[in-house]
Amino acid sequence: MTSRDVATTAVIIVAAGRGERFGGPKHAATIDGHPLWERSAAAFASLDLSVTIVGDVPGGIPGGTRRRDSVASGLATLGDVEWVLIHDAARPLVSRALILSVLERLHVGDVDAVIPAMPVSDTVKKVSGDRIINTLDRASLVTVQTPQGFRRDVLVEAHRVDPHEDVTDDAGLVERLGGTVVTVPGEATNLKVTYPEDLERARAIAAVADRRG
Ligand code: CTP
Ligand code: MG
Repeated sequence: MTSRDVATTAVIIVAAGRGERFGGPKHAATIDGHPLWERSAAAFASLDLSVTIVGDVPGGIPGGTRRRDSVASGLATLGDVEWVLIHDAARPLVSRALILSVLERLHVGDVDAVIPAMPVSDTVKKVSGDRIINTLDRASLVTVQTPQGFRRDVLVEAHRVDPHEDVTDDAGLVERLGGTVVTVPGEATNLKVTYPEDLERARAIAAVADRRG
């Protein structure tokens, strides 16, 4: 990554929200004594990228009711950068390699968004209540992660034209705008802390990763 790439790319880490499935806000959750957001922030900062944190954390700016409102708060603070990465503080195990992979694809400049994706290993079925409707074609499905990278002007426009819809991922807004979104391989270790047991898994993975250095 060149210094020009660094200078034209900003990072927003969203760390607000109520943590309903976790049983409370995740600000206080730690891995090895460090809050989740701090671990993510360190990964981006180690690549010299400038990081804005949204949420009730030291140095953070206020978040919003929905995730997309928190992203919008972050977008409103950005200077005139060309690219923006959006990352969930709840994914504290993001690696430098994954960040670089998203950025390298993004900086090619031919797409609006780049998102990390994982193949689906379980069989996935559509249901109505407890009743199976059908079985989906697993080969054509992926699950997606953050960091998600965007042309900043496209993401800002996607937020502007679609202000009411709630979405759980930023790429969804760009898709609806008709933008080009492509994937890079995600990482199995890049898990999201959603439920309390996820924190235990994240701590175990971090302990192994930190031992390896
Ligand atoms: N987030 C945010 N602002 C919100 C909601 C979520 O910044 N209003 C952030 C969270 O901090 C997290 C990421 O978006 O890093 C993914 O959200 P999620 O895991 O759903 O967190 P919560 O919304 O807090 O949890 P829940 O949905 O269980 O209430
Ligand atoms: Mg949520």
